[in-house]
Amino acid sequence: MGSGTLLMLLVSNLVLWKNVVSVRLCPSWDSSCQGNLNNMFDYALSLSHEIKNQTDEMLNNFLQDIQYKPGRWYLDGAQSSCHTSTFAILLPEEETKQIKGIFLLQEILTMLGAWKDPLDHVVTELGRMEEAPTAIIARANIVGTAMVGLQEGIRRILGKIYPGFKEFEEYPFWKGLASLQSSDEDLRVFALSSLFQCLKRDSQKIDSNLKLLKCQFAYARGC
Ligand SMILES: *[C@@H]1O[C@H](CO)[C@@H](O)[C@H](O)[C@H]1NC(C)=O
Repeated sequence: MGSGTLLMLLVSNLVLWKNVVSVRLCPSWDSSCQGNLNNMFDYALSLSHEIKNQTDEMLNNFLQDIQYKPGRWYLDGAQSSCHTSTFAILLPEEETKQIKGIFLLQEILTMLGAWKDPLDHVVTELGRMEEAPTAIIARANIVGTAMVGLQEGIRRILGKIYPGFKEFEEYPFWKGLASLQSSDEDLRVFALSSLFQCLKRDSQKIDSNLKLLKCQFAYARGC
C-alpha cells in the first residue's frame, strides 16, 4: 500500500469520525458538555407556561364575547381538525430515548412555526372589527412574542444536546384565512373558535412535552 493510499484512508476515517462526533448526543451527565440545560429548560418552560396561560385566557375571552348568542353549531367539534394535526413525526420503535427527545423538540419547533401566520391574521382581522376585542388582540400579541422566544430557546437546547442538528423548517399551512375574512358571521366565528381551541390544545401539548423533556435531559430526580 502506498503512503498516498494510507493517507487517503486516514483522511476518510477522520472525516467519518468527524461526522460521528458532530452528531454525538450530549447527555446532561457528561461533564464535557458545557452549559446548564436545567436553566435553558426553565427558561423555555416559563415561556410555554405563559403561552398556555394566555391561550387559555384567549379562548375564555372569546367564549365570553360570543356567549350572548347561544346554541350555535360552531362550538361543537370545532377543533376536530387543526392545521397542526396534519403533520405527525413517526419514529421507528427502536430509536433511543435521546433521539425521540430530539424529534419531540423538532415537533415543538414545527408547531410554533405553524402558529405564526394564524396569530398574525387574528391580530389583523380582529383589529379591523368595529368593536375590536382588545383583550384577545393583546393576548395574541403576547403569545406571538413568547413563541418567537420559545423557538430560540428550543434551538439553543437542541444546539446543546445535539450539536449539528439541522432544523426542519417547513410548517403546516393554515387554511383558515378565507373563513376569517368571510362576510358570513357564522363562518368567521367558527374559524375563530377552531383556531382558539386548536391553539389551546397545541399550547398544552408543547408545555407538557417540554416538562417531560426537561426530566429526560436536564435532571432525573422528581420526574
Ligand atoms: C393566568 O395567569 C394569571 C396570572 O398569574 C392567573 O390569574 C390566571 O388564573 C391564569 N389563567 C389560567 C387560565 O390559568
